[in-house]
Amino acid sequence: MAFPGTGKIWMNGKIVEWADATVHIASHVIHYGSGVFEGARCYDTVNGPACFRLDAHMRRLLDSARIYRMDPAYDQQTLTDATINLIQVNGFKACYIRPLVYRGYDSLGVNPLPCPIDVAIMLWEWPAYFTKEAIEEGIDVKIATWARNAPNTTPAMAKSVANYANAQLIKLEAIAEGYAEGIALDTQGNLSEGSGQNVFVVRDNIIFTPPIGNSVLSGITRDSVVTLAKDLGFEVREQTLPREMLYIADEVFFVGTAVEVTPIRSVDKVKVGRGRRGPITEALQQKFFQIVKGEAPDVHGWLQPVNTPAAAASGGTKGR
Ligand SMILES: Cc1ncc(COP(=O)(O)O)c(C=O)c1O
Repeated sequence: MAFPGTGKIWMNGKIVEWADATVHIASHVIHYGSGVFEGARCYDTVNGPACFRLDAHMRRLLDSARIYRMDPAYDQQTLTDATINLIQVNGFKACYIRPLVYRGYDSLGVNPLPCPIDVAIMLWEWPAYFTKEAIEEGIDVKIATWARNAPNTTPAMAKSVANYANAQLIKLEAIAEGYAEGIALDTQGNLSEGSGQNVFVVRDNIIFTPPIGNSVLSGITRDSVVTLAKDLGFEVREQTLPREMLYIADEVFFVGTAVEVTPIRSVDKVKVGRGRRGPITEALQQKFFQIVKGEAPDVHGWLQPVNTPAAAASGGTKGR
């Protein structure tokens, strides 16, 4: 869905109009992919708007920046406060949150060091990534012919804009061939992840997911779902999985901030289980949605309310 083109954006400590949130074409990030970012969500809970694990997202943002030797002038707390304030300023009940740290305008060359480290936070109202039907019935996916980035190339643990060149190839291939998504293998041929999702496999009531060593992003939803699965009494194993595990699985599902918990009903046209959402996927979906909607107790402290007096008092502009 196209942006409405309205609202406010936070750029380097200032809140600016959507139309004014521009960068120069000579900015380093545009030419060399020198940016790292996050994708988080604010949910419209029964207790008012609340961000889901914003602390973990901001921490990962700064970890990603550190891997690329970028040292932004704003710390985790400042970026968190700025986000909460921006949600209030925009008056959103629910929105997608996109913080970005990038190398800006100075000069061009592979050496990024002369360029400033700029920071922006944008928000928009983003409906569900897949349809309601997909959430209930599952999606059809294929194994991508593109592998995930090899270890010691562009690092998987950094959520860098550069990694999404690979993600786009995976997604484009899936679309071209009529699938909703692609799952990529790592360069050894083991299961890795989707274009923008972590993947879980269920067999004989045990829940499996590839470890971070298999070129996956250390997903925050992945971590949340592992926690919820353990809360529900399931055994969870993080282990390297061969491709064929997908074809003999009872259930397969994606997780991520965008897709939340989405069942997969076929892989390469091979039915997963009975070809529809399985019971463990459904139980995890239910638990996840109850928590993010504020309908179940937030026992893990994952929701950060937006409309508290402390949040309102902070403009999120300290630190620079
Ligand atoms: C490549 C990739 N893997 C996994 C995920 C899921 O991570 P998270 O749950 O933190 O959104 C994302 C989304 O950010 C992603 O882009």
